[in-house]
Amino acid sequence: LLPDVPDQRMPAAEREVYCAFISDMHVGSSLFLEKAFMRFLRWLKGDLGTEKQAELAGRIKYLIIGGDLVDGVGVYPAQERDLSIPDVYVQYAYAAKLIAEIPDHVEVLLIPGNHDATRQSLPQPAIPAEFAGPVYEARGLYSLGNPSEVRLEGILFLLYHGRSLDDIIGSVSGLGSDRVENAMESLLRSRHLAPRYGAETPFAPEREDRLVVETPPDVFHCGHIHVAAHGRYRGRVLLNSGCWLAETPFQGAVGIRPTPGIVPLLNMRSGNVEMLAFS
Ligand SMILES: [Fe+2]
Repeated sequence: LLPDVPDQRMPAAEREVYCAFISDMHVGSSLFLEKAFMRFLRWLKGDLGTEKQAELAGRIKYLIIGGDLVDGVGVYPAQERDLSIPDVYVQYAYAAKLIAEIPDHVEVLLIPGNHDATRQSLPQPAIPAEFAGPVYEARGLYSLGNPSEVRLEGILFLLYHGRSLDDIIGSVSGLGSDRVENAMESLLRSRHLAPRYGAETPFAPEREDRLVVETPPDVFHCGHIHVAAHGRYRGRVLLNSGCWLAETPFQGAVGIRPTPGIVPLLNMRSGNVEMLAFS
């Protein structure tokens, strides 16, 4: 049974401000595309691009980081071979240096992914200060759990790293990593963020199922698949923020073509989405 979501138009923010979405930097991996990420940070600070692009950067009020800030350690067998920073504390300290570059006019919201140092079972608590402390000291930010619901400028956002997208893509015919927005759409139609039990997505046995999508969001943001995408379902904005990691041998073997360095930008007044490329 697919409960589905009703049609709804995204409410318009009262001011012309933008929200930028990133995820899956995987800091500490030898495949982290630091140069591209530095270009993004320079643009955000108004130091890169045309005058018009710099003006657009100045209108970014929110930056949402959808998980997998670091590559982590022990996430998969023999991961140490793929790491340029083999210590998770040093990975977060390095990430903190990058986060510190985000200009003050931007509010930052961070949720964890399956590579971050927090409980793996969904829902994931925010990354503990024991690990991400340097990031929290680098600048003010909101560190939230995965998933999280937030309201910004009157718009309801559902932020979810997206681990179960693997399960959905692998089990529903017609879905592929090249059309992530369709997989996100099926989560909304299921009104559940991990509707398949017993596959890749671990759940915490809690009394209340907090993966139910009680109130359908205006904007649904995921990462995890490493393929940037945007779409719309019944008036709701679907966004996947791609990654900052080059193609891994594993992705090559399973046929996933990542699209690194692409940042979806949401105009919070018009609801329009632009995809900016920094690769
Ligand atoms: Fe992930």
